[in-house]
Amino acid sequence: MCGIVGYTGKRPVVDILLDGLEQLEYRGYDSSGIALKCADSIKVYKAEGKLKNLREELSSHAYELTKSVTGIGHIRWATHGAPTVVNAHPHTCGCGKLVIVHNGIIENYKELKTELEAKGCKFKSQTDTEAVAHLIASIYGEVKDLTKSVQLAAKKLEGAYALCIMHNDEPGKIVATKRNAPLIIGIGENEFYVASDVPAFIKHTKKAVYLTDNQVATLTAETLKIEDENENEIPVKVEQLPWEPVALSKMGYKHFMLKEIHEQPDVIRNILVGKLHTCDSPIVLDEVKLTRQTLKDLNRIQIIACGTSLHAAMVGKYIIENFCSIPVDVEASSEYIYRKTVTDAHTLVIGVSQSGETADTLTAIKQSKSRGSHILIITNRPDSAMAREADSLVPVSAGIEVSVAATKSYIAQLTSFYLLALYMAEIKGTMAQSDLTNLKSEMLALPQKIEQILAHKENIQKCARKYSNTRDFIYIARGLNYPTALEGALKLKEISYINATGYPAGELKHGPIAMLDETMPVLSILMKGTVYEKLLSNSEEAKARNARMIALTNSTDEKLQDLFDYIITVPDVTELLSPIIAVVPLQLIAYYIAEFLGKDVDQPRNLAKSVTVE
Ligand code: M6R
Repeated sequence: MCGIVGYTGKRPVVDILLDGLEQLEYRGYDSSGIALKCADSIKVYKAEGKLKNLREELSSHAYELTKSVTGIGHIRWATHGAPTVVNAHPHTCGCGKLVIVHNGIIENYKELKTELEAKGCKFKSQTDTEAVAHLIASIYGEVKDLTKSVQLAAKKLEGAYALCIMHNDEPGKIVATKRNAPLIIGIGENEFYVASDVPAFIKHTKKAVYLTDNQVATLTAETLKIEDENENEIPVKVEQLPWEPVALSKMGYKHFMLKEIHEQPDVIRNILVGKLHTCDSPIVLDEVKLTRQTLKDLNRIQIIACGTSLHAAMVGKYIIENFCSIPVDVEASSEYIYRKTVTDAHTLVIGVSQSGETADTLTAIKQSKSRGSHILIITNRPDSAMAREADSLVPVSAGIEVSVAATKSYIAQLTSFYLLALYMAEIKGTMAQSDLTNLKSEMLALPQKIEQILAHKENIQKCARKYSNTRDFIYIARGLNYPTALEGALKLKEISYINATGYPAGELKHGPIAMLDETMPVLSILMKGTVYEKLLSNSEEAKARNARMIALTNSTDEKLQDLFDYIITVPDVTELLSPIIAVVPLQLIAYYIAEFLGKDVDQPRNLAKSVTVE
């Protein structure tokens, strides 16, 4: 989603901004821009599309650009107004002396705009952000102090925002503030950075301050001052970031997505180290701070998440109920937050998020926290806003995921859910020792099994080619692989734009079967176990309607040859762990179809890696 970078110091700012924006561009965006404090004015440069267009735009202004040492930059994922140059950030006030970049959504911008237009402000764009530029500028006209103007303006804003502002009359200064959107200040030697995420400046400094809601930071080359909204100064709490600068390299793969799919065996190995030693030793989850008694007293678990993380949560529900006999509800965060939900001190609330920044999930977590529930966060970003709300944290340690389509973070979330469910089952004594031992032993073998799938991926690639000309695609499964069907369909939709849907196979006959004919591929996730025969019957029903049948299976049953046009075989695995194995070929099918169709695999249209608006 949108990204912010700002810098003030002694060094030329242009490359610092462009490089910082480049580090954020994997998050997804559709236009970009920078504002530079130059000799006698602030200059703004913007472009539609990718950052290379902004670089081209800048190339004809070489001289003035090299002088500037203070600036702010932005990549925009359009919310209000099309992704055009006019709507791209930075936005300016009427006289062009004040510039602003913004992540988030200002919910009362229409009211603000009406008030400001009545005072004579002329708007150029369709964005909510421009209203903030005019608002701060109009206050500045009276108080003549940028920090104070931002403090006063922020009191009038509703919604979510991370803002960075410069004013031509206060050279060398950036003012930054936030509410419900991340903003971090990087501290260098006689220089400061400000960004919506750490990768934007991590190669320059590991010392940082995380702004909290409503704080206002004023940065110059030599000074950093943080105040609350009422001008009370707040001590600067510097943290050492637990990050190494990572070169975002594809390591020879054509796309980050393919590289990240191939990293999955090691991701599982890394998670298991220190947590699952042998099949006879208990699970170690030091980060779970629930006491044994609280765990035993829990009467309910509520899991909230979005997108791929929601699918991991659905598998989580299945296994926690199965292993621990605790009722579990799963809900999309965006639905959860706008109804009366019932959680209390006996409910464990689990938030699942790759980024740890997803606005819907963050809001849901805050709501539950205020009702006294213990909050457990499963995230790939232990430094994120969600992690900061956590009572217990389960870091999934998948490493930075660049491709917008989540793959390795999903496998990492699933693995973490299995560990958590086993950990709780051991404490509650709800599983037989032999079942625990068998499952742990199979978990330790998962990385090699995924490696086997990856070593024979040509068959999956062939399958993808064969079905790449389709407009629609149906995935069916039952039981704990129903979320796998949803995830396979989501992956395909996201990166190939094919209309793919996942169904619980038993539901097919209640409506979706009407769509089946000889043009429709139906992929059946046919893993051996309790629902295998049932799913086979559902597949027969689809075959009888002439659908193009594909099986993803760990069965060697010969009768599958007659029923299916294409069979993808995966290594044998116990039914309870099968979601971790079954999803890998589905990720590859989605990847190869999108790649074959020539789509922008890593940065699909309209999508963002971190969705920081509700
Ligand atoms: O960072 P989160 O896990 O909270 O993100 C949730 C969804 O936005 C995310 O999973 C999205 O669906 C991905 N693009 C899936 O590939």
